[in-house]
Amino acid sequence: MIIAIDGYSACGKSTMAKALASEIGAVYIDTGAMYRAVTLYFIRNDINLEDMEAVSSALENIVISFDHSKGLNECLLNGENIESLIRTKEVSGLVSEVATISLVRKKLVEIQRAMSDHLDVVMDGRDIGTVVFPDAKVKLFITADPLIRAERRLKEYKKKGVEANITEVLENLKKRDYIDSNRKDSPLKVADDAIVIDNSKLTREEQLEKVIDIVRRSQEEDH
Ligand code: CDP
Repeated sequence: MIIAIDGYSACGKSTMAKALASEIGAVYIDTGAMYRAVTLYFIRNDINLEDMEAVSSALENIVISFDHSKGLNECLLNGENIESLIRTKEVSGLVSEVATISLVRKKLVEIQRAMSDHLDVVMDGRDIGTVVFPDAKVKLFITADPLIRAERRLKEYKKKGVEANITEVLENLKKRDYIDSNRKDSPLKVADDAIVIDNSKLTREEQLEKVIDIVRRSQEEDH
């Protein structure tokens, strides 16, 4: 069973997807982390995003995997645990441009499909219900008021000791939403058969309850 969760930046998709996966005994796959990992590699190796030959050969040197042991969902880049290095402002500032590159998308979508083979998976991202798994059993599209999303992201930054202010965080979210929704390849949009959830006024628990209910109902339909 595949559960596809798409939506805008910092709308709490991953927190919800993680909790849902653990509740239903599925594997959680964070595709945003994969685009962030490629971005980190491009920054470290000074890859020119306009130079498709450089991009292509860089991609050949990249292996992305996840450490799912001990209940973790940590992203590995060529075996290195980069989880704490990919949520920075620098990576957030570049990731959506990297994610417009078709060569990058093609490689990551292949990995995402291969990772899900024969598994029950909860996968979150921007194109999961539309492109990666158009036949997913359940498709959710999560959204929330931009200011509320920015406040939530700012709280995460504060927890990690990252200096940030609400204006720059809000600007980054808006910029990413714009690039993600307007790119040519696999733009962020609501799949025709997705259920849209605006979680601006929902607590994490209320949201989780709602999605568990949706998933259970869809499982019951099969029996
Ligand atoms: O956690 P947050 O919502 O800030 O973003 P993320 O899920 O970590 O994704 C980071 C960026 O990766 C997005 O803004 C997109 O540009 C890109 N992305 C994508 O293009 N397709 C996906 N399936 C997942 C992420």
